[in-house]
Amino acid sequence: MCEVPDRQDPMRVLVLGGHGFIGRHVVEEVRARGHEVTVASRCDGVDLLNIGDISNVLTDTRPDVVMNLAAHVGSLHYITAHAAHVLHDNAQMMLNLYRAVQDACPSAMVVNPLSNCSYPGHAGVQVEDEWWDGPVHESVMAYGNAKRLLYVLAKSYHQQFGLRSVNLIVANAFGPGDSTDPNRTHALNGLVIRLLQAQKSGADEFEIWGTGRPVREWVFVDDIAKILAWSLSLREGLQEPVNIAQGKGYSIRESAEIVRDIVGFQGELVFNTGYADGAPVKILDERRFRALLPDFEFEDHRRGIEKTVAYYQHVQEENLGG
Ligand SMILES: NC(=O)c1ccc[n+]([C@@H]2O[C@H](COP(=O)([O-])OP(=O)(O)OC[C@H]3O[C@@H](n4cnc5c(N)ncnc54)[C@H](OP(=O)(O)O)[C@@H]3O)[C@@H](O)[C@H]2O)c1
Repeated sequence: MCEVPDRQDPMRVLVLGGHGFIGRHVVEEVRARGHEVTVASRCDGVDLLNIGDISNVLTDTRPDVVMNLAAHVGSLHYITAHAAHVLHDNAQMMLNLYRAVQDACPSAMVVNPLSNCSYPGHAGVQVEDEWWDGPVHESVMAYGNAKRLLYVLAKSYHQQFGLRSVNLIVANAFGPGDSTDPNRTHALNGLVIRLLQAQKSGADEFEIWGTGRPVREWVFVDDIAKILAWSLSLREGLQEPVNIAQGKGYSIRESAEIVRDIVGFQGELVFNTGYADGAPVKILDERRFRALLPDFEFEDHRRGIEKTVAYYQHVQEENLGG
């Protein structure tokens, strides 16, 4: 049975999905803080769809904390086209995880990043107390509801067994280290990849769906990693969700113009208004977050995009053998 460590002690941290976009940054950050990290995903021979795999790794590593960064995710188009698989796999993985933690290592704490698409579809400013006040948007039905199930599982295991979880709600992530397939990447990284491709091909224009006016909140991947790593110190967990929030967003147009300028794309950005915009504003309320981390400084949006463009330029050069 695992002992709950003193919060100052180095901990044993199991990072599920530790080779993924957020996972690899979390591994780096948690290691840098002196904790002992084990990474587990399918490429390490651990398939979370198989409860035996996760039980074995928990028994072998006896973690103090499990960072739950494994999930079946993708672009909006991908999760819509694969809705049944997305729901099945995510639900099965989390059911297996909680059951296995309770059986093998019940004093371990589970850290869950919940996507903000689990908020009601109509919510403009996303406030934690209103998280249940309506259905998720139709376009994220399977993925968003799987994230709600994760919270229900965390809450139920806490209620029955006292198992501790940290539930943090995360906006659209961007930054270096994501997939290079624009169909699997997150929105802003996809925009960077496509604008780099447009620049390379010498295109005259670059089409963006909608008016470009909708405002969205973005969070740089290193900031997520720092905050998830900080959550290791939460001895009681954080059962009720807290937004990782800056309380501000940028319009699609603003972000696209920043990417265009950094990439050096000479063509024109064309906004195809034949496509619907979605909600005018989607940002996260920051009050609960600021009560916990009043001094946390998020990466500047432009600087974050510069680092992202540099990463994808490097990938592009490597693919060309340059
Ligand atoms: N990125 C965002 O914008 C964002 C925003 C909010 C919340 N989140 C949440 O953050 C978490 C990580 O997201 P991400 O963007 O880093 O995703 P990602 O890059 O796709 O990484 C997910 C990881 O899960 C692993 N995985 C998938 N199926 C598995 C299985 N059956 N068994 C074991 N491992 C499996 C994958 O590794 P293998 O293929 O090697 O197994 C992969 O490394 C997810 O829960 C996501 O919902 C992300």
